[in-house]
Amino acid sequence: MIRPVDAVIGFLEAEQNRGLTHVLLDEGARDGLRELYRRAQAGGKPTRATASPESSPPPQTAAAVPTMVPAPAMAPQPVAVPTVVTAQGGSKEERLASLRQQAKSWPPAKALSTLRETMVFSTGNPDARIMFVGEAPGYEEEKKCEPFVGPAGQKLDDILRAMGISRAEVYISTVVKFRPATPRQTTNNRKPDPAEIAACLPFVRAEIGIIRPACVIALGATAAESLLGAGDDVTVMRGSWHECEGVPLRVTYHPSYLLRSDADLTIKRMVWEDMLAVMDRLEMPVSEKQRRYFLPKS
Ligand code: URA
Repeated sequence: MIRPVDAVIGFLEAEQNRGLTHVLLDEGARDGLRELYRRAQAGGKPTRATASPESSPPPQTAAAVPTMVPAPAMAPQPVAVPTVVTAQGGSKEERLASLRQQAKSWPPAKALSTLRETMVFSTGNPDARIMFVGEAPGYEEEKKCEPFVGPAGQKLDDILRAMGISRAEVYISTVVKFRPATPRQTTNNRKPDPAEIAACLPFVRAEIGIIRPACVIALGATAAESLLGAGDDVTVMRGSWHECEGVPLRVTYHPSYLLRSDADLTIKRMVWEDMLAVMDRLEMPVSEKQRRYFLPKS
């Protein structure tokens, strides 16, 4: 297993090889690095950052000290995850290609060992006005190396059709770029966990910065919480405008929610009202018939 410190060193060396001399660290990343440094000073043992000399445990006797503290035996510690990724190139296409190239072997994601090997990067129009963001690829997406191509993707296609736009016009991304792994995995999928989200989040943020769509649509609670940095139920987050990377963001239910057998007209209408809000904001044409989709027939 790759140790957190090796993941950080790997990341910094890759940045240096690309000619970068500085990386931006937020407070969380700094705390993580300080902890790695303290651990190295303490011979690999986790430390208490705030412990005063008086509160430190008494020195251990020679007999009690193991000859070597093996790093893999330590409890998993939070990893200092780089919060920024730098896209190289001039055009949007070049910068997205640069992100795709870096994501493939992104050390913070690889260091977790909980994500599968195949990367599923985003797809779509770099000049899109609408960018959809889901949580992570599943079985079908991994097989085709494209986001939203399974049953949830077909629902998303239905939504696009109802809006009168094609898949080629929009940009479709996910927060996590690898399918989350499970033991003896076949077709089963799982939600990404917070460490997996933190490791991949710089990419979707960078994508928003490159595409600069008129609007981001977060599909489901995981995508919304990740992009907004705060969590709540979709029921609470939908219905108003938010912002991510300076771009207006709307939250709606994940298309897989519409696949549930108990997904009634009310839920379909709520998703559709979210789409109508986007279409109105973007001054897209909306017919009277479209306005009435999923309303009970009177
Ligand atoms: N769910 C997601 O969030 N993304 C996909 O690509 C597929 C299902």
